[in-house]
Amino acid sequence: MRILITAGPTREPIDPVRFLSNRSTGKMGFAIAAAAVARGHDVHLISGPVALAPPEGLARFTAVTTAAEMLDAVRAGLAEAEVLVMCAAVADYRPATVSARKLKKGEGPMALHLERTADILSEVAPMKGDRVFVGFAAETERVIEEASRKRRDKGLDLILANDVSSADAGFAADTNRVTLMEAGREPEPWPLASKAEVAARLVVRIERIASCLGK
Ligand code: CTP
Repeated sequence: MRILITAGPTREPIDPVRFLSNRSTGKMGFAIAAAAVARGHDVHLISGPVALAPPEGLARFTAVTTAAEMLDAVRAGLAEAEVLVMCAAVADYRPATVSARKLKKGEGPMALHLERTADILSEVAPMKGDRVFVGFAAETERVIEEASRKRRDKGLDLILANDVSSADAGFAADTNRVTLMEAGREPEPWPLASKAEVAARLVVRIERIASCLGK
């Protein structure tokens, strides 16, 4: 199958030397890409700025910086993919104006005016058709309820709920503890495992869903 995967954070510039971003390292998304390659799939990985080398054997790698660039890359890549895995931690807000010059400090506090970025999954929802869409839910409280809401609202076949407040799961860790939530099924808590193991298991599950859809 042709699988489009996003990974890493996005960076939203403030001025030439500063940006807003988050703690994503890209490890989970890169592990999914490697697992999908190992299962013989044709993988296009789109990544925000990370310190990882792209896995070997990708059909394509696209480096992006901002949420807007990631949206454009996902739109273009989706036309040629049967599966979308949105693992990226997309910034939800960006500075409303980007200063062309380095902002200088003044005496008092400073306010940043932020505006919403596009929600990539919601933007590409009209392109879903019989494609398999998978998302992640990074939560620190009411993990299952919030993930379930996001799965429904974003029209996903599958969401992996991730409690990012624990040290052995979520951002920067080499392990992850997820609860897999599939439409019409009970939540499935998976045991703590390496991100590589979680990724391999996820790819097999995606294959099963895709085969039910006749892929
Ligand atoms: N996502 C997206 N575009 C965004 C933000 C998130 O496509 N601007 C995707 C993520 O890649 C993930 C899913 O939506 O697969 C859920 O992301 P998450 O950050 O957990 O949730 P948000 O949609 O940002 O919602 P909230 O602010 O309520 O946590």
